[in-house]
Amino acid sequence: MANTILVGAQWGDEGKGKIIDVLTEQADVVVRYAGGNNAGHTVWVGKQKYVLHLIPSGILRQRKLCVIGNGVVIDPIGLVSEIRALHKLGIKVGKNLVVSETAHVVFPYHRELDAQREVLKGKNKIGTTKRGIGPAYGDKAARVGLRMADLVDPVRLQEKLARRIAENNEVLKALGAKPLSFKAVFAEYNEAGKFLKPFVENTVVLLHQTMRRGEDILFEGAQGTFLDIDHGTYPFVTSSNTTAGGACTGSGVPPHRMDRVVGVMKAYTTRVGEGPLPTENQEISDLLHGMGREFGATTGRARRCGWFDSVATRHATMVNGIDDLAVTNLDGLDTVATIKACVAYRHGKKRYDYMPNDAEVLAACEPVYAEFEGWLTPTHQAKTWKQLPPKARAYLKAIAELTGAKLFIASVGPGRDQTIFV
Ligand code: GDP
Ligand code: IMO
Ligand code: MG
Repeated sequence: MANTILVGAQWGDEGKGKIIDVLTEQADVVVRYAGGNNAGHTVWVGKQKYVLHLIPSGILRQRKLCVIGNGVVIDPIGLVSEIRALHKLGIKVGKNLVVSETAHVVFPYHRELDAQREVLKGKNKIGTTKRGIGPAYGDKAARVGLRMADLVDPVRLQEKLARRIAENNEVLKALGAKPLSFKAVFAEYNEAGKFLKPFVENTVVLLHQTMRRGEDILFEGAQGTFLDIDHGTYPFVTSSNTTAGGACTGSGVPPHRMDRVVGVMKAYTTRVGEGPLPTENQEISDLLHGMGREFGATTGRARRCGWFDSVATRHATMVNGIDDLAVTNLDGLDTVATIKACVAYRHGKKRYDYMPNDAEVLAACEPVYAEFEGWLTPTHQAKTWKQLPPKARAYLKAIAELTGAKLFIASVGPGRDQTIFV
């Protein structure tokens, strides 16, 4: 399959988990390179639903090596419970999971600060997942973070954690929040460290060994292009580089070893959390929520929904270098008589064919729509391109052309067998 980076081309929750699971069949190694347990990747295997937060979705296939790379921030308590939950469902997690020793650790003060900062922001809040992601990446950049190698060494953990808790307790008290007990946090994290120690390794060296053996790596992006700290709708973003470049920095695999980028996008648009969403539309939100769809896999929040936005996906093609497109949730539009897709934005007299960087300008943009006739036929049983209604094929072709990449997969349901290779 060659080394493939899979990224979300919208605002997250594009169906990356499902497509990763499908593509894992042809890969040897699956690597998460960014984000933390703010992610929620859903995979259905038969009638069983799995939601992965930190562990690569490749874990559900046998004999695949799964790696949590250095670019990820890890809540060790969350990781331990994720491993245990998988064990309970009969999924083996042992030598098939390796965790980078340089990945940063999320502590309770990160989660508390995340929550407090949201309160302080009031109506300008980001709508974070409150998993402590922003403060953990903040500590990494400020060079005061603890890494997995520290977590699994009780002496280093004790010394470094004591200093971090002392400092953060001052901040928490100033914000009117309860300070943390070093003793309690140390006990809990030391326990998790003991459990995780066998998984922790130098993953950069390991990945280069797998490449020397000729093995193929699949990079599992988390979040989406417009949640990227640099390329997203700042400040309404997450705190990592979710885009394709993050796969290199977040794993230690160099750019010239990357062969292909797959962009995953829904046949419409969703976003969970605050920030601009130019094509947001109440009718399509009501329709999808009425079908029991589009509730967050991590927080359960209702996702905001809107029409497909090709200005956004075209931009995503540009910054990620997307070669191939996987369009998911086509079946969500099965009952819509007239489908709209945004082809440009209008802001006053100015027309934008690209995403403006200023979130305030973007929020004030009016979408310019093209209209497509709906197919008004269920698609969830289609197995081949030819079995899709002609109007659905026309819509898919049009959005791929507008996005500027090759249509590779059309997905018509959450199941493995609801995947059409174009
Ligand atoms: P991720 O974060 O990108 O992995 O996406 P999520 O798992 O958060 O959300 C995507 C949702 O869409 C999940 O509930 C998937 O099971 C579901 N899904 C993925 N592809 C399809 C599809 O083609 N049709 C339908 N009906 N559901 C899909
Ligand atoms: P997956 O990998 C959708 C959003 C949050 C919020 C913003 C910042 O499942 O696609 P954070 O907790 O990261 O500081 O929140 O980013 N967000 C996601 N939205 N899918 C995700 O992950 C997300 N991870 C973070 O809702 O708006
Ligand atoms: Mg998700």
